[in-house]
Parts: sequence; structure tokens; C-alpha cells
Amino acid sequence: MSNSIKIDNKINSFNKTITVPGDKSLSIRWVLFSSMANGKSKAFNLLLSEDVLAAINAVKKLGIKVKLYKNYCTIIGNGPNGYKYKKNTIINSENSGTLGRLIMGILIDTPYKIKIIGDKSLSKRDFSRIAEPLHKFGAKIKLTKKGLPLTIHGSKNLIPITYYENKGSAQCKSSVIFAGLKTEGTTFIKAKISRNHTELLCKFLGLPIKVKKIKNHDIIEVRKAKKIKPLNYEIPSDISSAAFFIVLTALSSNSKLLIKKVNINPSRIGIITILKIMGINIKIKNKKNYKGELIADIYVVSSKKIKAINCPPKLNSCAIDEFLIIFLIAAKANGVSYFKNIGELNQKESPRLKWGSKILNEMGIKTITTDSSIKIYGNPNLEINKKIIIKNFLKDHRIFMTSVTAALAFGGSWEIHDKDSVRTSFPKFLNIVNNLTK
Ligand code: S3P
Repeated sequence: MSNSIKIDNKINSFNKTITVPGDKSLSIRWVLFSSMANGKSKAFNLLLSEDVLAAINAVKKLGIKVKLYKNYCTIIGNGPNGYKYKKNTIINSENSGTLGRLIMGILIDTPYKIKIIGDKSLSKRDFSRIAEPLHKFGAKIKLTKKGLPLTIHGSKNLIPITYYENKGSAQCKSSVIFAGLKTEGTTFIKAKISRNHTELLCKFLGLPIKVKKIKNHDIIEVRKAKKIKPLNYEIPSDISSAAFFIVLTALSSNSKLLIKKVNINPSRIGIITILKIMGINIKIKNKKNYKGELIADIYVVSSKKIKAINCPPKLNSCAIDEFLIIFLIAAKANGVSYFKNIGELNQKESPRLKWGSKILNEMGIKTITTDSSIKIYGNPNLEINKKIIIKNFLKDHRIFMTSVTAALAFGGSWEIHDKDSVRTSFPKFLNIVNNLTK
């Protein structure tokens, strides 16, 4: 069982400054935009995880030159219509929903059929949510059941569409934006609020996009991009990776942590808003604008008292990848926390709502879970004194990292399988954990 780890002790107090790796969403988007740019783009602090490497391999298959140096990466694009590839090209999206879904929008005009495959977890996920709008542009898409493998055969006569994105899915919204950038005329999108990195990068690159906010929706208009400027970019650190350390610090005794240069895009910081409501002491310092994105240092200290929350659903999409770790805070809260309208969690790398509930129950925490909600009966004196084995979770990286955080925060004797799963988003996770108390 070399691919599992055992944790038998809580973490000691720590007082550290750390950095976490580059943001995954921005890294994948940088690869995709650069692959369509006219000229050479350069990125520092690109996340070198399996999801991003899959994106690099995908654009290489499409005839794009990518070079990885010690601390930066370059991509030489040939413009928005510059891909060169053979018939029967297969793109392997591995575990990455973001890559698989966003690249479909880019391939909307492909003259040949392209096949998209993925690993066991990705193949089970819903691609019909992307195929439906892309089909309306004029592309032919064949899915296996609702998922992968799929083939996409684009069209030269694309028709702009009007699309209502009602799930709060940035992947669906971004895929349609990419398709709109390839289509003559104006594509209209009304989208529930979700992460807006694609829109911000479009604006920074001067691409033909307009965004207006109306209540909990964005109204987006996109037109065809004739040219795309190369993008020199230093990827800010990933709040979704920082999240594990924010929670670990809050739950540990007498600890303090400063996390440097994290992307605090308002559409990503649901975890900070939620944790603050729950009484966690978090401060945002040195806030700066970087090429359209906000970055800042995050300072967090241990919390003695944690309040239960009735989580406002308007925060859901801004915390979508962080709920598992937020549930650990609710486990130690004084009272019952309630999270509703979060059925999308079961559409992730694993059915995360079910897994969140299962891990909490293993820890001795009572939950009432439906397909779209969870009530968590917190225990402010939670201490675990039993053996817990976490396995068969479809190698979902966030389940692995949440379990490690729980073991270090609450004690008990844990055996957590599939440690390689961290390679998806955060290969150095365990190194940073180990260095916290050195
Ligand atoms: C992502 C969007 C979210 C998120 C995923 C990354 C993105 O997925 O869960 O980890 O980079 O656009 P959905 O669009 O399915 O909500």
C-alpha cells in the first residue's frame, strides 16, 4: 500500500509563511489562450500538475509548440485558426473537466472529427451540458451516454447563439465564450455568477467581449476574435489550494499562517466569506490588481469558537471547490450548519456531497444529507480516537487533501489511500504540510 499514507497524530502548533502553487483554472486558461495567440506567450508560476500538463499535451496534439523551462513556460501560437493536426486526432483530458469542456468550445470549427477521452472519473461526468449549446452553434458532437469518449466535428458555418447558463458552471460559460470567439456575429450569454477568469483574460487581451452584471447573473456578449495578443503572465497562487491550509490553521491550536500572493478574485473567495461568518479570524493584506485579477496575502489564526452557518446559496458557486474543507469547520462549530442547493458537488471528480457526508460520519459527526443539501451537527469538542480508512474515492484529489487535513486537525488513526491523487492539482501538498512544523 505504498500509495496510501498513515496519520496517527494531530499537527503541532505552527507559525509560518507559505506560498501555494499557481491557480489551476488560470493555468489551463493561459495554455488555451496562448495556443490561439498570434506569437509567443510566456508564463511564470504555471501550475505543473497533471491537469495542466494534460492541457499542454492537448495543444501540442493540435500542432502548437510548447517549451517548459526551469521556472517558466512558453507557447507559440499561430492565431485563432492556427491549429494543425491530422485526421483522427485524440485528445486525452485525463482527469480535467476544465480542459475537456473548455477545449470543446475552441474546437467548434474543427474541419475533422476530434475524439476527446479522459480517465475513469472524467468519463463518468456530464458532457451533455456542453454538447447542447455547442450543437446549436452548428457543431456535431457524439457522446458516450452523457459523457466521454466523445467526438466533436466542427462547422465552417457557425451560427451565434443565445445561451442561458443556469448551473453556475464556469466551465459551461467559458466553453460557450470560446465558441463565441470563433463565430461571426454576436453570441449572447446569460450566466449565473461563477468564476470569471475567462472574461477577465478576454478583457485584458482586448478581445471583443462585453460583460454586464444584473443581480446574480452576468450578461455577456462575445464576437469573433480575428487576432489574439500573446499573453505574458505570472499565474497567481490558487485559493483552492490555500483553502486546505486556511482550514488546518483555523482548526489547529495556537497556530498562525500567512499565505502569499493568492488570487482573491471575488468569484473565488466564497470560502473566506463563509469562514468569516463562522467566526474564523482571516485577514486579507497587500491587495493588488494584477492584469485584471486581484491578488493578496491571506493571514489566518487558530479559532477557539466556531459558529454554525446557514450558508447563503448565493455563495455556492464562489466556494464550489471548497465545500469539503468547509464541512470540516462546520464539524467543529457550535450548532447545526446547513448548506443547500449544492447538488453540483455530486458532479465533480467524485460525488463530493456524498463523500463529504461519509467522511464526517466516519469522524463521528451526525449529518442529514439529501441529493442537494447537508446539515452538519457540529461538535466544538471533537476529538477522534478511532481508526478511519478512506479509500475508493475515484482518486479525487480534494477528498485526499480534506482527509489529511481532518486527520491533522482532529486526531485519530487514519489510513488515506491514493496519495498520488494530489498530482492533479497540488503535487507539493504533502511537502508543504510536512514543512509547517519544521
Ligand atoms: C472550473 C470550474 C468549476 C470548478 C472546477 C474548475 C473552471 O467547475 O469546480 O474545479 O476552471 O472553470 P464547474 O464549471 O463544473 O462548476
